[in-house]
Amino acid sequence: MKRLQHIARAICTILVFQVSGLAGQSIFEGGDPVNGQSLFNANCAACHKITDEMLVGPGLAGLQDRWTSGDEMLVKWIQSPQEAAESGDKYIKSLVDRYVSTYGWMTGQAVSKDEISDILAYVSSPPADVGGAAASLSEDCPTIDYDAEQESDSSDAMWFVFLLILFLVVALSAAGISRSLTDVISEKNGEPYLPDTGYFTRLKGWAWNNLVMVSLIGFFFVIYGVVVGYSALMGIGLYTDYSPDQPIAFNHSIHACENEIDCKYCHSTVYDSKHASIPSANVCMNCHKAIKKGSRTGTEEIEKIYASIGFDSNSGTYLDGEGNIGNALPQDSYDGEPIKWNKVHNLPDHVYFSHQQHVTVGGLQCQNCHGDVSTYSVGRIAPVEEINTLIDAYPGIIQLSKPTLTMGWCLECHNKAEIDLASGGYYEEIHERLLNSERGNEELRRYLEDEKITVRELGGWECSKCHY
Ligand code: HEC
Ligand code: HEC
Ligand code: HEC
Ligand code: HEC
Ligand code: HEC
Ligand code: HEC
Repeated sequence: MKRLQHIARAICTILVFQVSGLAGQSIFEGGDPVNGQSLFNANCAACHKITDEMLVGPGLAGLQDRWTSGDEMLVKWIQSPQEAAESGDKYIKSLVDRYVSTYGWMTGQAVSKDEISDILAYVSSPPADVGGAAASLSEDCPTIDYDAEQESDSSDAMWFVFLLILFLVVALSAAGISRSLTDVISEKNGEPYLPDTGYFTRLKGWAWNNLVMVSLIGFFFVIYGVVVGYSALMGIGLYTDYSPDQPIAFNHSIHACENEIDCKYCHSTVYDSKHASIPSANVCMNCHKAIKKGSRTGTEEIEKIYASIGFDSNSGTYLDGEGNIGNALPQDSYDGEPIKWNKVHNLPDHVYFSHQQHVTVGGLQCQNCHGDVSTYSVGRIAPVEEINTLIDAYPGIIQLSKPTLTMGWCLECHNKAEIDLASGGYYEEIHERLLNSERGNEELRRYLEDEKITVRELGGWECSKCHY
């Protein structure tokens, strides 16, 4: 009997221990703050700071002390706030009463319970080093000044026209002088004047008599043409620092640096397609449905998003086709003008360029080609000299000298950029081929003479790789 009691007690202790173990493992405990930080930055930081109240949402610090509705309800709130509010929970009712009229509804976030636990661990005690970095970031987001609107340089063509005119003037007056001289001589000798021929015929005559001079001039023009052609190809100073005005005073620094929004959030196709998409107004509305005012431009610029998509910021609802306030969907109801962003980078149609190839396969950083975009206002073409100075902040950047976006720039990088054949994926097949044949092996040895394999060596200089 005693033994039975003993066993029962043991079982009870185990049960109690386990149950209390479960209950004790609150969602506020046991999370991983480091993972939590990246989750917080990716999902919550656009609207929440840890301590301060932002324009959009309450600071999350101290949540553990004020949240009285239990873990399940907290998870539900974060995943689907309106659903959580429908449950009639008291704390949530007070939350909605207090914030929704000013901030609008929080949007539901696609994070799991475990991920929420990690986020809360980060929020309640940001690791000293990580937290320090995050804190200093927001103070360290300058927007650099650059001259907006710099058209590409057409002085080459102007020089050409100028020289052509000069040449004609010289040639014509030379023909004129020689004609006058002939006339003077003829008059002296009492011979009849030459018949009055056209300038062109006289020019031809002069050219026949001055073959050396003509070939010199011809030679000069051929050389000039080659130089102009070459520098057009290599694009001396063609696009550098081009930055057209945009319909909305968008600011990368505020979004990508101050609020740490990932490039991919807005340029969502950049890792898996040729083009990096420019976000539509719907993407802006994920945040700007709630963020109605900016600290620098007030409501003025953000209102332009609303005008485009048909959103009434007073009532917080979308307009229908007739301009009435309703619950219409943003895409298909209001026929406002889509925001017409001006293209900044624009390669000619005959050039093929793929982002996926460069950022996903090649592992290049955006900054290697676009500069430190998180310090820009609107998009711009960064000068190559400026990109080269980023090497400390973005280790691994390949330093180049030819102007950005020119053919010379592409070629220079392909000659410098190394490829890790053994990394598999895209180059697996080439690698196999090189390893498994005698000729291939020889080729491979030749590539490896300088101890690296460049993009060029695998065909990155072939015209057809870049030209249709
Ligand atoms: C689009 C903006 C937005 C995003 C993104 C967002 N929230 Fe919120 N959050 C709000 C707003 C606004 C409120 C205030 C309640 C309301 O108005 O809906 C809020 C309230 C909260 C509250 C209640 C705060 C309190 O004091 O009780 C918690 C907890 C919370 N959010 C967690 C999160 C977490 C975690 C994430 C990221 C996974 C997140 N939120 C992402 C806008 C946002
Ligand atoms: C992930 C959230 C998010 C997205 C998406 C987003 N914004 Fe913002 N935006 C913010 C935040 C946060 C601020 C900062 C508000 C403040 O504190 O000034 C802001 C500020 C602004 C401002 C005001 C700047 C100022 O300080 O006056 C403008 C204009 C703006 N955004 C335009 C856009 C446009 C256009 C898009 C779509 C292409 C967009 N935003 C997408 C979060 C976002
Ligand atoms: C900063 C360096 C860099 C610049 C600048 C650059 N590329 Fe590349 N490119 C690479 C690298 C690295 C690869 C190889 C990626 C991989 O497959 O591993 C590559 C691969 C390619 C390929 C595929 C080549 C093949 O053999 O399949 C094409 C096409 C290409 N680039 C076009 C361009 C064009 C066009 C430009 C100029 C507008 C350009 N690249 C500018 C680094 C660069
Ligand atoms: C190897 C150089 C290179 C890298 C790395 C690179 N880009 Fe680009 N990017 C270009 C070129 C070249 C263009 C012009 C493409 C065209 O006109 O077809 C461009 C154009 C763009 C555009 C305009 C839309 C388009 O696709 O034409 C956006 C937005 C953009 N890049 C964003 C990014 C982001 C974000 C990253 C990092 C994830 C990135 N780029 C990395 C070279 C690069
Ligand atoms: C909140 C949304 C948002 C984020 C985040 C964002 N961008 Fe942009 N980006 C835009 C918009 C809108 C434009 C078009 C207007 C302009 O040129 O400024 C643009 C333009 C660009 C352009 C020029 C496109 C062209 O027409 O050639 C480049 C390059 C670019 N972004 C790169 C980046 C990089 C790199 C990052 C990350 C550091 C980033 N962007 C983060 C919204 C964003
Ligand atoms: C790595 C990519 C790449 C390779 C390889 C390449 N080109 Fe280009 N090429 C470009 C780019 C980018 C431009 C556009 C430059 C500009 O707009 O200034 C261009 C422009 C040109 C132009 C000028 C057309 C114009 O619009 O001015 C000619 C001609 C040309 N390439 C011929 C060639 C030939 C011939 C080869 C092979 C020997 C070749 N390219 C290989 C990227 C490449």
